[in-house]
Amino acid sequence: MAKEDKREVKVQVNHLTKYFGSLHVLDDVSFDIKKGEFMCVVGPTGCGKTTFLNMLTKIYEPTSGELRIDGELADPKKHNLACVFQEPSSFPWLTVEENLKFGLKIKKIPEKEIRERVEKIIQILGLEQFRHSYPSQLSVSSEQRIIIGRAFAMQPDLLLMDEPYGQMDIKLRFYLEDEVLRLWREFGTTVVFITHNIEEAVYLSERCLILTNKPASIKEIVQNDLPYPRDITSDDFIKMRKHITEQIKWW
Ligand SMILES: Nc1ncnc2c1ncn2[C@@H]1O[C@H](COP(=O)(O)OP(=O)(O)OP(=O)(O)O)[C@@H](O)[C@H]1O
Ligand SMILES: [Mg+2]
Repeated sequence: MAKEDKREVKVQVNHLTKYFGSLHVLDDVSFDIKKGEFMCVVGPTGCGKTTFLNMLTKIYEPTSGELRIDGELADPKKHNLACVFQEPSSFPWLTVEENLKFGLKIKKIPEKEIRERVEKIIQILGLEQFRHSYPSQLSVSSEQRIIIGRAFAMQPDLLLMDEPYGQMDIKLRFYLEDEVLRLWREFGTTVVFITHNIEEAVYLSERCLILTNKPASIKEIVQNDLPYPRDITSDDFIKMRKHITEQIKWW
């Protein structure tokens, strides 16, 4: 049933194990992420999802095992990693447009290229009339959209999203999920998206990684070949949602 994925491997997770003192969090986790893939990660509270991201960005070192990006050990000094967390973190003293440009200027991307990338983002986000506004003048959800736009504008090797829509209501989520898919399509970014929301995982991801309780290992990696845009009321969608829910019923 599953199509063969011919894309090259972007991220390799090899026998990753993490202890905090005597607390065993991740247990021998191995999988690959393909270049340009949209992968969701679901798993019980406290199983080590955020810890996994924190090892990619080297906030924590693995106890054993390794993380590789393009074949090299993951290193934020070498690799371009962008992160989006649940709490929006824009720069309040910069306008929307300046926020979007900020990281690109630090990376010394040529001015013309910065303008082009930022214009594309502003259009996809429909923020033309807010480009000179400050984050405090926007709603929390709009601020988060800017953070997400800023992350895609960096054209990162890997975009890590940790429950970015955690606090949004359901209607807004549908809208934001479509937006993130548009950005992903447009930029071809490799995305790891952590969520507790199974419907969201089925709506967004090409593959969904299910983690067990800690010490967490891989319960299953679900291949999702449903065509985009996905219909959450279709039989296939519901079947997949039910299957993932079955896998995690013991949460
Ligand atoms: N710096 C740390 N020192 C000690 N224990 C930690 C540290 N960071 C995380 N932990 C513990 O490791 C486990 C995994 O935490 P983590 O935040 O990665 O879980 P999570 O899967 O992201 O959970 P949630 O779904 O609630 O976001 C938890 O038991 C947590 O208390
Ligand atoms: Mg977490």
